[in-house]
Amino acid sequence: MMRRFFRPTWAEIDLGALVGNLRLFRKRVGSGVKIMFVVKANAYGHDAVLCSLAAQKARAADWLGVSSVEEGIVLRGAGVRLPILILGSLYPFESVLAAAAHDLTPIVASLESAKRVAEAALRLRRNIHIHVKVDTGMGRIGLRPEAALALVRDLSAWKGIRVQGLLTHMAKAEDDRVFTARQLRDFKRVVFALSREGLRPPLVHAANSAAALRHAGARFDLVRPGLAVYGLYAGFSPVLTLKSKLVYIKTAPKGAAVSYGATWRAKCVSRIATLPIGYGDGYPRALSNKAAVLVGGRRCPVVGRVTMDQIMVDVTDAPRARVGDDAVLIGRQDDAVVSAAELARVCGTIAYETVTALSSRVPRVAVGG
Ligand SMILES: Cc1ncc(COP(=O)(O)O)c(C=O)c1O
Repeated sequence: MMRRFFRPTWAEIDLGALVGNLRLFRKRVGSGVKIMFVVKANAYGHDAVLCSLAAQKARAADWLGVSSVEEGIVLRGAGVRLPILILGSLYPFESVLAAAAHDLTPIVASLESAKRVAEAALRLRRNIHIHVKVDTGMGRIGLRPEAALALVRDLSAWKGIRVQGLLTHMAKAEDDRVFTARQLRDFKRVVFALSREGLRPPLVHAANSAAALRHAGARFDLVRPGLAVYGLYAGFSPVLTLKSKLVYIKTAPKGAAVSYGATWRAKCVSRIATLPIGYGDGYPRALSNKAAVLVGGRRCPVVGRVTMDQIMVDVTDAPRARVGDDAVLIGRQDDAVVSAAELARVCGTIAYETVTALSSRVPRVAVGG
């Protein structure tokens, strides 16, 4: 449920666009491939509960992916019933019991973690499903291909553990076909060996958005898109619009300084608007004097330093701008657009970080769903 807020700064989450993106993704990868919608890090800042419930209600995803047991528990508490895979490391292994209690599926990336899952299964007197992670080049968590093969063989004889999935993760799917092909070749060797021995797990998966869309051979049984579902990948519709309002407008005489350090001075008489958003909301200070905000359908420059709670925008070229008008910091207004990717470029980062950085101070408001 939306909480009440007074400060006019919020992020609109277009659930219609989100579900549309999931359906488009399914169409692109084929209906025989399952979709694990990645909702870690609060759904990349889009509100994991809102997004997960929308996907569940629309039957647009088969699985959800989170990064930790904690993230999974929040979703279960909100009524999410879809299967949930914990994509991150299980360490410290006490979390295995909590995962099992909330019907969250862990990833096993070492013999040690497999042993701890088996102990938990014994204690709970039931089988625990796991997915085994293979490191084919990402170098984060995962067993080398030969070790993964040996572990899955071993596990087939263990009590309490069922290997439901085998996965890897692509490190350069968006821009390096050779590297990706090598990763897929090494992963397929493990899959084929297990198939020959009758040990192939039912869910083999490798692909994030870029891998699934660009490499048909990476799709296997299931794909794990995040970026495309949030509309941050070419061809998909952006889901998040970051909005605020003009809460104060003043006329600055020629030469007047704006914000800390007086890094900006009016070159002529200017109309300067103040917006109640700052780096405390995840609007980066690196955008000082570099970003644009949409007001009245025009791009108006951010002037002076971004402060913790407020920014100033030069609205001289939007003469009809008034206190109370909407401003768009990420998204579209009429024909003008400021994308998360544009802000990311200015900050020397990627759109993932820009949207994930939006802080809990910014209410997320569901629209369109
Ligand atoms: C293991 C794993 N799978 C899938 C994804 C989704 O990636 P993308 O947002 O690029 O689709 C991520 C995201 O970082 C991930 O860590």
